[in-house]
Amino acid sequence: MNPTNISLTLLSSILVAFISTQLIIQEQTCLEYFTNLGSSLSPVFQVVFRLDVYSRHSSGRKKKQPVVSICNSFPQHFPPPDTNTTAFFCVDPNGCCNFTTVQSAVDAVGVNSPKRSIVWINTGIYFEKVLVPKTKPNVTFQGQGFETTAIMWNDTANSANGTFYSGSVQVYATNFIAKNISFMNVAPMPGPGAVGAQAVAMRISGDEAAFWGCGFFGAQDTLHDDRGRHYFKDCFIQGNIDFIFGNARSFYENCELVSIATPVPPGAKNINGAVTAHGRASNDDNTGFSFVNCTVGGTGRIWLGRAWRPFSRVVFAFTSMTDIIAPEGWNDFNDPTRDQTIFYGEHNCSGVGANVTLRAPYVQKLNETQASPFLNVSFIDADQWLQPY
Ligand SMILES: *[C@@H]1O[C@H](CO)[C@@H](O)[C@H](O)[C@H]1NC(C)=O
Ligand SMILES: *[C@@H]1O[C@H](CO)[C@@H](O)[C@H](O)[C@H]1NC(C)=O
Ligand SMILES: *[C@@H]1O[C@H](CO)[C@@H](O)[C@H](O)[C@H]1NC(C)=O
Ligand SMILES: *[C@@H]1O[C@H](CO)[C@@H](O)[C@H](O)[C@H]1NC(C)=O
Ligand SMILES: *[C@@H]1O[C@H](CO)[C@@H](O)[C@H](O)[C@H]1NC(C)=O
Ligand SMILES: *[C@@H]1O[C@H](CO)[C@@H](O)[C@H](O)[C@H]1NC(C)=O
Ligand SMILES: *[C@@H]1O[C@H](CO)[C@@H](O)[C@H](O)[C@H]1NC(C)=O
Ligand SMILES: *[C@@H]1O[C@H](CO)[C@@H](O)[C@H](O)[C@H]1NC(C)=O
Ligand SMILES: *[C@@H]1O[C@H](CO)[C@@H](O)[C@H](O)[C@H]1NC(C)=O
Ligand SMILES: *[C@@H]1O[C@H](CO)[C@@H](O)[C@H](O)[C@H]1NC(C)=O
Ligand SMILES: *[C@@H]1O[C@H](CO)[C@@H](O)[C@H](O)[C@H]1NC(C)=O
Repeated sequence: MNPTNISLTLLSSILVAFISTQLIIQEQTCLEYFTNLGSSLSPVFQVVFRLDVYSRHSSGRKKKQPVVSICNSFPQHFPPPDTNTTAFFCVDPNGCCNFTTVQSAVDAVGVNSPKRSIVWINTGIYFEKVLVPKTKPNVTFQGQGFETTAIMWNDTANSANGTFYSGSVQVYATNFIAKNISFMNVAPMPGPGAVGAQAVAMRISGDEAAFWGCGFFGAQDTLHDDRGRHYFKDCFIQGNIDFIFGNARSFYENCELVSIATPVPPGAKNINGAVTAHGRASNDDNTGFSFVNCTVGGTGRIWLGRAWRPFSRVVFAFTSMTDIIAPEGWNDFNDPTRDQTIFYGEHNCSGVGANVTLRAPYVQKLNETQASPFLNVSFIDADQWLQPY
């Protein structure tokens, strides 16, 4: 991928996000990041993602230094042998194990294998579009940290024949797990009024999926939380417009939600983003997004959610919110008939943005009894499927 086609705005916001979350990589200072940002893009990626580890080893300028194999730091005796219940698929961008791309490892997973297939993904950025088909349940993507391992592509609704197919990673299989890895869509950030610029980083359409310590980076429509029951713990989710959308039933625990909407001047009343756009279409859909113990911050002036479909259902509980949240909090998609059917609730949130005094009339200030179905993993029937970390 040619770095000049990567959105500079998006990239710098990724950097800012990383710096603000204290995920600063050793041996580098903030100043050096920004210096690098000004000169050329790819070194920034190398710094952020520690890809320079390898180049430093191989480009020794002192001639007497012995040549160090690029695979020297690769874990010994890895991957472990398969067992009755697990199979390993090892991915390394430098060819230090069987696969150099994530998709080639997924392709090697057995069809309808009852085993858990662990796709172990070494540190690096993987410039590829990845699809886990319905026929490959029980796949785990195991990265080395969401700030060091990432799958990145740049499709948009325009380039992919629709938003739903723009995902850098698309998962249609059940029982998918991802740990400590980032999913990114680096298509240019849409300007005002742009059409077809939606760019999904991850589409999760399989039932019973869990994401632990993962990053989701994009702008409009970052995380397509499409359908099924999903669990997100300790995740970092970035975007501007509708950046968590879909009709899944999902529980978000301890996640950091970061808006990269354009900063607005103090006193301005315009809205330029929304965290969620939940797509519950009928009263019979047992779907909704619940956020517990999360944080909402970043830039812009945004809503917590807008009613993509008439029965949209979202709850925020024990979540801190900065002043980027507009006082009315939510939006009915400018369709007042939806006010009767949407379910937007808040419970015990904190921070300036959580002041409910001026909330839209349909917003429910849930008491403990009303909030209780949304406050733990029973919301997603976790006892039926969620494995401990
Ligand atoms: C994605 O990046 C490639 C390579 O840089 C470029 O050719 C392509 O136009 C980009 N796609 C979009 C939708 O921006
Ligand atoms: C794995 O399968 C073999 C052969 O079917 C069996 O002998 C062995 O006990 C199994 N091991 C475990 C840990 O289930
Ligand atoms: C590489 O793949 C082959 C065939 O799929 C397998 O036999 C071998 O054990 C794998 N090696 C490693 C190191 O994963
Ligand atoms: C594999 O997936 C099937 C169907 O989703 C599920 O019943 C089974 O428990 C899974 N096996 C493992 C090892 O996760
Ligand atoms: C992996 O993610 C967990 C959170 O789910 C986190 O506690 C842990 O530090 C992460 N490990 C690495 C190596 O990033
Ligand atoms: C694009 O999407 C439309 C409707 O979703 C579908 O009918 C058409 O076949 C798709 N085209 C391609 C090239 O995938
Ligand atoms: C919720 O917040 C209220 C005050 O804002 C407080 O009195 C109450 O104890 C809190 N409930 C819980 C369960 O923390
Ligand atoms: C909440 O907002 C109202 C209306 O703007 C304001 O009067 C009130 O002081 C705010 N409450 C807190 C605790 O900031
Ligand atoms: C919560 O609100 C419901 C509906 O207004 C009410 O029936 C119930 O008594 C309240 N429960 C508590 C604990 O306040
Ligand atoms: C979740 O909360 C519900 C309602 O308060 C409670 O009945 C249930 O036991 C809780 N489940 C777990 C796993 O804590
Ligand atoms: C949220 O945080 C509180 C306080 O730390 C804790 O008691 C509660 O179990 C947490 N809930 C979830 C769902 O993580």
